[in-house]
Amino acid sequence: MKIAFIGGGNMATAIIGGLLARGADAADLRVAEIDAAARERLGREFGVTAVADALEAAAGADCVFLAVKPQQMRTVVASVAPACASALVVSIAAGIRTADLSRWLGGHDRIVRVMPNTPALIRQGLSAAFPLAGVSAGQRAAVDDLLGAVGKVLWVPDEDALDGVTALSGSGPAYVFYLIEAMQEAAGRLGFDTEAARLMSIQTVLGAAGLAAQSTEPAATLRARVTSKGGTTERALQVLEERGAKAAFVDAIEAAAVKSRELGDAFGRD
Ligand SMILES: NC(=O)c1ccc[n+]([C@@H]2O[C@H](COP(=O)([O-])OP(=O)(O)OC[C@H]3O[C@@H](n4cnc5c(N)ncnc54)[C@H](OP(=O)(O)O)[C@@H]3O)[C@@H](O)[C@H]2O)c1
Repeated sequence: MKIAFIGGGNMATAIIGGLLARGADAADLRVAEIDAAARERLGREFGVTAVADALEAAAGADCVFLAVKPQQMRTVVASVAPACASALVVSIAAGIRTADLSRWLGGHDRIVRVMPNTPALIRQGLSAAFPLAGVSAGQRAAVDDLLGAVGKVLWVPDEDALDGVTALSGSGPAYVFYLIEAMQEAAGRLGFDTEAARLMSIQTVLGAAGLAAQSTEPAATLRARVTSKGGTTERALQVLEERGAKAAFVDAIEAAAVKSRELGDAFGRD
């Protein structure tokens, strides 16, 4: 499958790297990137053809992968439209809805909208995907393969679910970094140096996530298992509950989903 990436930034670079590491042929990948230094880097690092013009990159591609900023999307879509008639179009732009992409592409219905997250940069991402009706089973499998190069893939049954995905896994890395920040601040107060604070906080998050991923038990059960009656963890969790930490996280994620819907409304306003 010949893939044209429109926008050669962080996300496109991660996916191109993942595809090549899995044995894709660099000759099948083309990139449009307006920044000359980024084009040079893409060519040098990956051996892919990188051009400045989006339409030139998209011409003849089986899949046009839109990876520019949401604010740039409308203009970019207009410029590649002539090359998209028979191509599968994949968009990772946060908040840009398939109805708007389809309208900008003159009614095209072979579109998959994807919400990835930044752990894709280390191939530990989660990408949620929603297909329009015109996407064939084969094209869906191709998207599975494409996104599988940088992590796990979750297909959602309706597009509105992508607002929730944006709030959970899209913004989610920031919540985990926030927890790491809090642990490091506490470590400082307890007299540890920066290096020890970094090791304890990050290794604990990694280890706990690994345990949760391997276990079939709910997170609450795993938590109960490290919470002995009258012990230190119980004391810490009491403070978190008194301060409403879990409720604050739930409210925060819901607020992010509302914001995602608002952004979608704003981007689609013609
Ligand atoms: N990073 C994330 O966590 C994340 C998560 C979910 C979804 N996304 C979505 O992924 C998309 C890409 O994100 P990113 O972090 O990879 O952004 P990025 O690093 O800014 O990459 C976009 C690249 O496309 C270039 N570009 C802009 N207009 C172009 C055009 N007409 N032709 C060719 N290239 C063009 C940009 O150049 P300039 O910088 O010069 O404009 C930039 O280098 C965004 O829509 C974002 O919403 C990102």
